[in-house]
Amino acid sequence: MSTIYIKENLNELAAIINKNSSIFVIIDNNLKPYCNHFSQFNTIWLNTSENLKTLDTVAELTGKLLEAGTDRSSFIIGIGGGITTDITGFVASTYKRGVKFGFVPTTLLAQVDASIGGKNGVNYNSYKNIIGTINQPEWIYICPQMLSTLNPREFKAGVAEVLKTFILFDKEYYSIAVDYFSKLEQILEDRGSYAPDGEFYRLPLLTEIIGKCAQYKSAVVERDEFERGERRMLNLGHTFAHAIEKICGEACSAGSNQGGIMHGEAVSIGMVLAARVSGRMGMASEEFVNRVEHDLKSVGLPVAVPANPATGEEISIAMLLEALKKDKKVNGEYINFIIPQDLGNVKDIRILIKELEDLACDLC
Ligand SMILES: NC(=O)c1ccc[n+]([C@@H]2O[C@H](COP(=O)([O-])OP(=O)(O)OC[C@H]3O[C@@H](n4cnc5c(N)ncnc54)[C@H](O)[C@@H]3O)[C@@H](O)[C@H]2O)c1
Ligand SMILES: [Zn+2]
Repeated sequence: MSTIYIKENLNELAAIINKNSSIFVIIDNNLKPYCNHFSQFNTIWLNTSENLKTLDTVAELTGKLLEAGTDRSSFIIGIGGGITTDITGFVASTYKRGVKFGFVPTTLLAQVDASIGGKNGVNYNSYKNIIGTINQPEWIYICPQMLSTLNPREFKAGVAEVLKTFILFDKEYYSIAVDYFSKLEQILEDRGSYAPDGEFYRLPLLTEIIGKCAQYKSAVVERDEFERGERRMLNLGHTFAHAIEKICGEACSAGSNQGGIMHGEAVSIGMVLAARVSGRMGMASEEFVNRVEHDLKSVGLPVAVPANPATGEEISIAMLLEALKKDKKVNGEYINFIIPQDLGNVKDIRILIKELEDLACDLC
């Protein structure tokens, strides 16, 4: 399994990089402010968007690695959000049948989720992450301070995955994280930035929260690398989220006021719907269902299914379920669905789509 380093700044990265192998860095083009930390290495700058997460980009990067003389003893470092780490992991896993690699994830979503677990890959046409490998990076260097340059909307999308992790595994840290991110949301509203002076409010606590999440994900992956059981739990909120994303379209990265919906925003709404379904099934208390909704709202995440941004049309549960039937988790008449019962108490159930339809028909 990968070694995870959680550090408040980038100062200790140099010591981790093995100077005995030649190093190639693949780095997101939006990270130019950090370039002095990596200037001593061969660097390939990457334009990131879902449209560029393709085999063409993999071929281009492979060509650049060849040109630069990368061999099997080289080491590749991917620095950026989930798009960069997914592509870098795939390129490194396939280049000359595999060279070692490490990640410096730079979005909250990548620090707590995308960079951990060894899933690497690219999209094909409209199919997301359909070509890929499961191959673990040697190490992941997580530096929350780098999040200070992240667009607030991107940041909040990552908060949804943080709270998902704690709903699954840690009641105590769930409360700590909700308190912390609600406070950050207030700072954002008052001062227009999470880190108005370049420093986060209580950076050591943010570092601890992110570190906890990363450790939980890593531990699940260690127990169930190929998603045969427990790893499926990480899909809490994702069944409805994928349906919402399908209908609304994905918001492109970075711009804060574009149409479409970000993955983390869809996960937030998906978790509220999952909690409500759980309540309807008599598996969760009303208090828990209301708490989840209240907390997600307080950290600045959406909790209600939006209107279709393209048409302005309301999205019904029936429409979501229609989209959901095309989802990869649908298995004939049944669907795997993650049901939150309480903080730290979540079940993976197999449910008839028809039953879910009846339970959820008037939920949004
Ligand atoms: N492999 C996995 O297990 C896994 C899990 C979840 C998501 N993913 C993948 O992750 C991708 C989404 O990742 P993401 O949300 O990190 O998106 P991303 O990589 O597109 O990054 C979001 C945006 O933030 C910018 N950016 C990144 N770090 C920055 C920083 N520190 N300061 C300023 N700007 C910065 C990027 O240039 C980009 O515009 C999707 O392709 C998804 O499929 C993979
Ligand atoms: Zn997710």
